Amino acid sequence: MTDTSHPRAIFRTRQLEEAAGDGHNPTANPTMGEIIAARFSRRSFLKGSMAATAISATVAPLALVAADRARADTAQGSRFGFTELEAGVDADHHVADGYSADVLLRWGDPVFADSPAFDPANQTPEAQARQFGYNNDFIGYIPIDGSSEHGLLVVNHEYTNEHLMFPGVVTVENGEMVVAPADRNRVDVEMAAHGGTIIEIAKRDGKWQPVLDGPLNRRITTMTPMEVTGPAAGSPRLRTVADPTGTAVFGTLNNCAGGVTPWGTYVMSEENFHGYFMGTLPEGHPEAANYERYGVPNESYEWGRFHDRFDLSKEPNEPNRFGWVVEVDVMDPTSTPKKRTALGRFKHEGAESIVAPDGRVVFYLGDDERFDYVYKFVTAGAYNPDDRDANRDLLDDGTLYVARFDEEGSMEWLPLVFGEGPLTAENGFASQADVLIETRRAADLLGATPMDRPEDIEPNSSNGRVYVMLTNNTKRTEANAANPRVDNAFGHIIEIAEENGDFAATTGTWEILLKCGDPSVADVGATFSTETTSNGWFGMPDNCSVDSEGRLWVATDGNSPSDTGRTDGLWAVDTEGDARGTSKLFYRVPVGAEMCGPRPTPDLATFFVAVQHPGDGGEDWEEFGRVSYYEDLSTRWPDFDDAMPVRPAVVAITRIDGGPIGS
Ligand code: FEO
Ligand code: CA
Ligand code: CA
Ligand code: CA
Repeated sequence: MTDTSHPRAIFRTRQLEEAAGDGHNPTANPTMGEIIAARFSRRSFLKGSMAATAISATVAPLALVAADRARADTAQGSRFGFTELEAGVDADHHVADGYSADVLLRWGDPVFADSPAFDPANQTPEAQARQFGYNNDFIGYIPIDGSSEHGLLVVNHEYTNEHLMFPGVVTVENGEMVVAPADRNRVDVEMAAHGGTIIEIAKRDGKWQPVLDGPLNRRITTMTPMEVTGPAAGSPRLRTVADPTGTAVFGTLNNCAGGVTPWGTYVMSEENFHGYFMGTLPEGHPEAANYERYGVPNESYEWGRFHDRFDLSKEPNEPNRFGWVVEVDVMDPTSTPKKRTALGRFKHEGAESIVAPDGRVVFYLGDDERFDYVYKFVTAGAYNPDDRDANRDLLDDGTLYVARFDEEGSMEWLPLVFGEGPLTAENGFASQADVLIETRRAADLLGATPMDRPEDIEPNSSNGRVYVMLTNNTKRTEANAANPRVDNAFGHIIEIAEENGDFAATTGTWEILLKCGDPSVADVGATFSTETTSNGWFGMPDNCSVDSEGRLWVATDGNSPSDTGRTDGLWAVDTEGDARGTSKLFYRVPVGAEMCGPRPTPDLATFFVAVQHPGDGGEDWEEFGRVSYYEDLSTRWPDFDDAMPVRPAVVAITRIDGGPIGS
């Protein structure tokens, strides 16, 4: 499946996601196409015409823009009172009027008092391992002494973009980038730029700053020793030449969204792990079908040329040691992060959690692949708010469920338990370890509903609902109830109501909160409220956050000049009352970037956001019109200094008058 003629390391996200989605799900679970064709008579058969229509529709005359603004400011019953930002595309980031957006941490910034200064022309793995990593994604805020002005920021570093990071690696041939093969130093810098950062931050003199001598500051990388725990720990399928115990893994990678547990640990999810493996399995190797289901190998990275564990011919079991959820105890910087296998193995997008009425803890988990599934994990034990240690290994024991969305708006959470239903020896499962290592195949057999790329999923304690971001899927030819559009270019959001508001329930109901895209283009079939302006709609929902007032914020991945006539950003989405389905633009990223993070502080005075891969693209932006790489960038955000490359960064947004965000 790997296209070896593809120049490596270009447009990394797209490449991984495109390669990832090519129909690896072999099941024919009922898609209910016929039933739904009747219920949702408007479907999009747009293909090539869609992009052009979307652009022309977004170029509103000035008078319409003014009217738009007035409409947004007076949206009936909206819980968001800010003045909406104008959508668009340029080299800088922008926030709504009355707010300031300050860069807090950039790629290469020091994480420790003795971190070496950032020297982009002479990068080393040793320096990078002491500096803020690349492509910040999930952001968690863990208050110190309950403060919203002093805490630990935990940040995932999902992946690396070599063409933006390193000087002298790109040549342009016929308008296309070709990236030179990596040397050992470059590979090791990439590995050190992955993982996560834990860093103390404080608001001093009204401005957020990193505390570089914070005793809990830590970098986690692809080299950090980790322990495998839970039912799959020690499985023969996890044993390697380097680790005959099947319990000790170096590092974590492609950490996308994530979570902070009620007991204050940092949860990192491993998403597109398939892209890091190269080589071929030995002839007749028993993992062949398993790896096919996960798209391994993909060869987006060249790490296997220098590190045996990323070469299937040398360490054929290594891919089974990735695709897990990792838990990090941030209160002990020497602690060994744990790969918690009870939560399943797939392309984990996020791991937001909530305490159910009986004290068990529920984690919502998306598997970001076309036609893959929505999961949740319910701990066996109850959370103890008075004894942090008592929660230490809650994530090793519990039940993993996968969602089946039924056509009448009901749903069932199906348990992935060895020995139950089809999850038996007859189907090739010898233990719960096997069920978890091959989570996707187990879910196929249970009849889960294939979805349009499940991304972040966020529970809302204030109304008992759960929001599921489904980013897009242009390969769907048959709709189902929960994925009602074929050729779903702009994605949608599902709202789940768990039975009796109990997040641990095994049944619930659901409805579609939003079908995304430009509502002024009828064939798109978007369902934003009529109060939503030409700035307020978006496509491709990805990360999300529910703030302490129970309001939903949606970050996007994939809006661009050619797709939607706007960059990615952060949108405020009403979910209640008359304003339900109304969306307003609050913040937008520079050209080429994706919006990640979003994390409000508990007091709502600050909103942290992550600007990921700025400058990754520019061909479809009129003002630039060519490929963007280290020596010729579509933006040099945030420094705008010719001596500095473009840098992914975390931004702290505050209200200039000091009030709560978004009100
Ligand atoms: Fe890392 Fe699914 O986005
Ligand atoms: Ca993303
Ligand atoms: Ca989230
Ligand atoms: Ca995405």
